[in-house]
Amino acid sequence: MYSSFGKLVFLALLQINLADNDYKINDKSFPDNFIFGAATAAYQIEGGWNEDGKGENIWDRFTHEYPQYILNEDTGDIACDSYHKYEEDVEKLTYLGVNHYRFSISWSRVLPNGFSDNINQKGIAYYKNLIAKLKANNIEPLVTLYHWDLPQTLQDYGGFHNDSFNQWFADYARVCFENFGKDIKYWITFNEPKYACTGYGTATFAPGVNMPGVGEYKCMHNLLKAHAAAYHVYQDEFKTDQNGKLAIANSISGCLPATNKTEDVEAANREMEFTLGWISNPLFYGDYPEIMKSRVAYRSELEGFTESRLPTFTEDEKAFIKGTSDYFAVNTYSTTFAAAASEPEIGAPSIASDCGVEVQYADDDHKFDGMTYLMEWVTEHYNKPAIIITENGLGLSSNSLEDEERIHFIKNSMSRFKDALDKGINVFGYTTWSLMDNFEWTQGYSKKFGLYHIDFNSPNRTRTAKASVEWYRNVIKTRCLLDKCES
Ligand code: BGC
Repeated sequence: MYSSFGKLVFLALLQINLADNDYKINDKSFPDNFIFGAATAAYQIEGGWNEDGKGENIWDRFTHEYPQYILNEDTGDIACDSYHKYEEDVEKLTYLGVNHYRFSISWSRVLPNGFSDNINQKGIAYYKNLIAKLKANNIEPLVTLYHWDLPQTLQDYGGFHNDSFNQWFADYARVCFENFGKDIKYWITFNEPKYACTGYGTATFAPGVNMPGVGEYKCMHNLLKAHAAAYHVYQDEFKTDQNGKLAIANSISGCLPATNKTEDVEAANREMEFTLGWISNPLFYGDYPEIMKSRVAYRSELEGFTESRLPTFTEDEKAFIKGTSDYFAVNTYSTTFAAAASEPEIGAPSIASDCGVEVQYADDDHKFDGMTYLMEWVTEHYNKPAIIITENGLGLSSNSLEDEERIHFIKNSMSRFKDALDKGINVFGYTTWSLMDNFEWTQGYSKKFGLYHIDFNSPNRTRTAKASVEWYRNVIKTRCLLDKCES
């Protein structure tokens, strides 16, 4: 998610590092094996919310029951109507010349009540058709199993807070591997776990379970176990035949220290551990980062809890979760700066107080500074994994087709990833968010990330290219961010 959530304290911090305008766009070609793509997610584009046997999910319920939390009371009921217009979407992707398309499967379209005893064949057919059309146009599907749209029935049983969640998810994943897996090389189990769990810490994001500082940790704990369960189902039952790779897509801003002072450097690291390490440490090393364990335990005790609000893994669970990431997927939209904060007062629990860092988003001159750093951090902390950018882009409120600002943003971001590649970091692909304007969660249709404009007032949901389409198409064709590249 781009900057929508709370914990940021806006300080007039001194921002170090190079100013944006001193920076030179990378003038070397992307290698032949580098892949370019575009992304979307089911609830944000499909519509057809109750068609052909699809079950209700938590975003259907939330937008219908709590319209006050969504700008203009928008819903994803019709969205871009991709349930009916997917062929046109693939034509747009083909025109762009992308190597891969990242989309997500709607769990309740495939399993209307979430459980694997009732499979909706029309839902299966929809994704099979989409995948076939992609393959026919030489576009690799990169498939997310969960992009925040939990079947409502499962939420009625507690959702991610139910300790059977791992089993439900593994069963759903098996249905997807069985039906689609022969055509899929890259799977993402969960999109942005941190935000998938946000709705267990606030009333204003689906499913709206308002348990800050407790609910998100419990949600994440079960999410990580569910990821591992799906990973093992794949290894045990499908890997030999299908030979795909699995990962989680993390949402992360490279966080730089506001100054060179040791306490700010530590603060920036703590912020990275609380946002990225929280998810990736268990996947790579079997457990949460030490700093998280000690901070949450310390504050929980002072708050009067008898045990840490951060749940613990058993030794068996650690062994089961460790080693369940075949590659590293990163969604990144910004840079943040961190400064040491005085210990937040003991009161209502929150993840922000557990972390105890003052964070601000970088201003325009510095917003790309953290991107190469992020690639370096991932490489250093997680044993040099193969990294793919699975989301990056710019949301604008304007309906203009002349989206120079977006081109500037994508060009500068891609340049930082290419810089990382030139430093020997294994970045193998880039995916822009998004192929087209779509339902931007609590911001409804007001914030537009698309390369293609969608006319949400027309029943046809007409797709029209913005300037960024020709620009990105040319980058893909020439493998170069400028008019000419060195090599
Ligand atoms: C999410 C998308 C969202 C995008 C822009 C990402 O965090 O995965 O669903 O639309 O950011 O905010």
